[in-house]
Amino acid sequence: MAPADPVAGARALVTGASSGIGAALAVTLAREGATVALWARRADRLAEVLDAVRVHAPASQAFVVDLDDLDAIPARAAEVETALGGVDLLVNNAGIPKRRPMTALTRADLEEVMRVNFEAPVLLASALLPGMLARGHGRIVNVSSMGAHSAAARVGAYVASKAALEAYTEGLHLDLVGTGVDAHCFVPGTTRTEFSLPRAGNDAPFAPPGGMEPDAVAAALVAQVRSGEFEAFAADDLAATAAAKRRDPARFLAATAAHLLRTIDGE
Ligand SMILES: NC(=O)c1ccc[n+]([C@@H]2O[C@H](COP(=O)([O-])OP(=O)(O)OC[C@H]3O[C@@H](n4cnc5c(N)ncnc54)[C@H](OP(=O)(O)O)[C@@H]3O)[C@@H](O)[C@H]2O)c1
Repeated sequence: MAPADPVAGARALVTGASSGIGAALAVTLAREGATVALWARRADRLAEVLDAVRVHAPASQAFVVDLDDLDAIPARAAEVETALGGVDLLVNNAGIPKRRPMTALTRADLEEVMRVNFEAPVLLASALLPGMLARGHGRIVNVSSMGAHSAAARVGAYVASKAALEAYTEGLHLDLVGTGVDAHCFVPGTTRTEFSLPRAGNDAPFAPPGGMEPDAVAAALVAQVRSGEFEAFAADDLAATAAAKRRDPARFLAATAAHLLRTIDGE
């Protein structure tokens, strides 16, 4: 039977928990009564976040996992199930940017961003679903991006990976009807994290890190888990922008193109 509160008492797995939104989310979930498994590659950063998480949830554990290694995902997921006794809440939060115009995109760029942002979350969900289905309850939250609802200029492959994740999540949500298990899509906008810092394999950042604080984004995600909504945006203004694009995509794209032309002219 599903617990009255999907957060308090839950055994949660958060990917990308070494920084940014995932680190804030891991601490927030722990404060709200969940035991948390943290995944990421940087052991030192994971250890710092784990210390903060264990203040609230001492049984929480960190695992050094590279999601780019798709073949390893089922065994690594089983390791968490054994450590926590099961996973009730999976948040597929880890992600990488790919700041590169489509005109310069290489096959390696495309494959990397699709592996980490799309294939890894799907394979991880597939690995944890049998346990959730057997228990008759579970939540999978896939973290998308506002880019999939607004303008994808110079980040087309990144946005395509998130759009694929959203389409998958919708299909999963429908395939899970009546099982007690559900899938959700969470959409952050620009958030003050390391995501917008310079990094290898990417063009220069468009702007210094800015936007929402990770704690506020994490709080919105936890609220979504509790409400059970299929799709939630990190803030109301993001939902309004997405709605404006849905209402009239041609007009939205034309306005974006005009803005880009003005920017190019001003460069
Ligand atoms: N920041 C924004 O403006 C923004 C806007 C919209 C959507 N988002 C989405 O929000 C999510 C979190 O991003 P963030 O802003 O918190 O950025 P971040 O601080 O860079 O965090 C990304 C996390 O993903 C992990 N990660 C990246 N590649 C990985 C891999 N191969 N294996 C395992 N873990 C990996 C990183 O850990 P390690 O490097 O330690 O592995 C890190 O913990 C992403 O899905 C991103 O697309 C962010």
